[in-house]
Amino acid sequence: MKERREPCLSPLALKILEERYLLRDKERHVIETPYDMYRRVAETMGGQEKAPAEQKEWTERFLEGLLNLEWSPASPCLMNAGTPLQQLSACFVLDIEDSMESIFTTLKDAALIYKTGGGVGFHFGKLRERGALVSTTKGYSSGTVAWLKVYDTAVEAIAQGGKRRGAALGVLPVHHPDILSWIKAKAIDREITNFNLSVAITDEFIRAVDRDEYFTLSSPLGHSVRQIPARELWNELCYQAWSTGEPGLFFIDRANRDNPNPHFGRIYGGNPCSEFLAVPYSSCNLASINLEKHLRKLNGGWEFDWEKFRTTIHTVVRFLDNMIDANVLPLPKLQEMALATRPIGLGFMGLARVLKALELGYHTGEGRSFAQSMASFLRQEAEAASRALAGERGVYPAWSGSLWEKKGVRLRHSNLLSIAPTGTIATLTNTSWSLEPEFAPVYQRRILGGKVFWEMDPQLEEKLKELDLDTPELRQELEKKGSIQEIKGIPQEIKNVFVYSLDIKPADHLKMQAVIQEYVDGAISKTINLPASATVAEVAKAYRLAYDLGLKGCTVYRQGTRLDQVLSLTKTK
Ligand code: CDP
Repeated sequence: MKERREPCLSPLALKILEERYLLRDKERHVIETPYDMYRRVAETMGGQEKAPAEQKEWTERFLEGLLNLEWSPASPCLMNAGTPLQQLSACFVLDIEDSMESIFTTLKDAALIYKTGGGVGFHFGKLRERGALVSTTKGYSSGTVAWLKVYDTAVEAIAQGGKRRGAALGVLPVHHPDILSWIKAKAIDREITNFNLSVAITDEFIRAVDRDEYFTLSSPLGHSVRQIPARELWNELCYQAWSTGEPGLFFIDRANRDNPNPHFGRIYGGNPCSEFLAVPYSSCNLASINLEKHLRKLNGGWEFDWEKFRTTIHTVVRFLDNMIDANVLPLPKLQEMALATRPIGLGFMGLARVLKALELGYHTGEGRSFAQSMASFLRQEAEAASRALAGERGVYPAWSGSLWEKKGVRLRHSNLLSIAPTGTIATLTNTSWSLEPEFAPVYQRRILGGKVFWEMDPQLEEKLKELDLDTPELRQELEKKGSIQEIKGIPQEIKNVFVYSLDIKPADHLKMQAVIQEYVDGAISKTINLPASATVAEVAKAYRLAYDLGLKGCTVYRQGTRLDQVLSLTKTK
């Protein structure tokens, strides 16, 4: 064993780890340090190697990367690896069949998942609509929104005892007869707070909107219920998204064209942040590479270290493969599915930091071109690593009949890349969230428990100090404006590179998502930020562009439309 070396963590990261990640004894005293936590994680996955020498070697390799904050598995793995719980997955996808038995079986299944720190996406589309006949009782069905409320209340109660807020997503297909109530559900009932809502949009629906045609709403029981003008539904959807940020859109046909396991059924939706789209009862283990730790100094500037990136990708794919075998899922059905399909969700964080270091604007063609090279490299190397593991350990058991078999690619994992939000792990590794631009030059961050932390973009701080511009007056202005663009005295070349979330046009947010999606077999969790002044038409335009760019989903957020916003300015623009 090498010498003990505590990772170099920020005060905020330490606080988060102490409050929620480090193990405690019965009296709730913390009994490990961050080093111990990372060692516990590395040993659990290293322990899956065959021979003792390999176990030792891989444990040390995993530990090295973790301690250097070069990558991190998602939160459940940090919390549970090497503990009696040993549930390591962050993402789960469940389905509800149209029966009372299934409604409550799925709810019980979800309860077991939430208890262990996972998040669940639910498909409500098979439930009959409100007012449909219930044959056994000759009564009328209460419909999807009523069941959504039951689920929301249950998630609230279950998650109380857990370490994370219970993340839940409800998906309804656009042709379900309850669709209008679904879209408005959260605006009408403010007590639905645990669920995010999504609508599965079909190509057929988009065509009907384009042609200004009527669109048929049909019951899951098989008959059509009524016809409505497609544009009316689209406008309502965009209005609600403008007003509350929901529903998000899920482009179901695109997702199914990429379904790696069509022989296991259809994809109806994904996990709560929608980076993992899969057939019901799938789950996924996530890890994200910290791109910022793959920069190296060059002539007073920075360059991206592709060789180091390659090594990290291969290490993390192996880590994730071992994680599938070390994992203990709360239901036999989940365990069987995970072992048959072996999905992994490799992603990244810190893209915005790397772009700034390389002096590339996030919103520019050059910025996107770097992101594209990075994503293409990530894909190529992740596939190479999975192929190599297939050679060493075999293709995933359900490979025969899969999309990969059709393509003639022998892989160890049915899903390779999923770009998760890295909401906590980016904070732990002290970098920017996944592919998101940074929120603002100075902002406040609320963490679980309501505590507020003030943060300033460290790269901007350094730059301003270098130029002798860092004054209290300037900081105040930054706090107020949420942007450097209109601040006098800051040179234009800095303004071109230091662009923040609201400086970037929705179309440029989407284009960044699209260049990356091209190489991602799974999906991407990304928020398209809009200023408070954005109109409904702008939301509609963003949603439509997302579809045209071939994205698998889209979420918009207009500043100030939610009370539980994690990052905010003191004063909104
Ligand atoms: O950074 P961290 O590993 O904590 O998670 P993330 O990347 O923000 O989210 C990854 C996935 O974890 C999400 O897509 C959800 O499925 C799940 N999640 C959850 O269950 N509960 C939360 N409070 C946050 C995320």
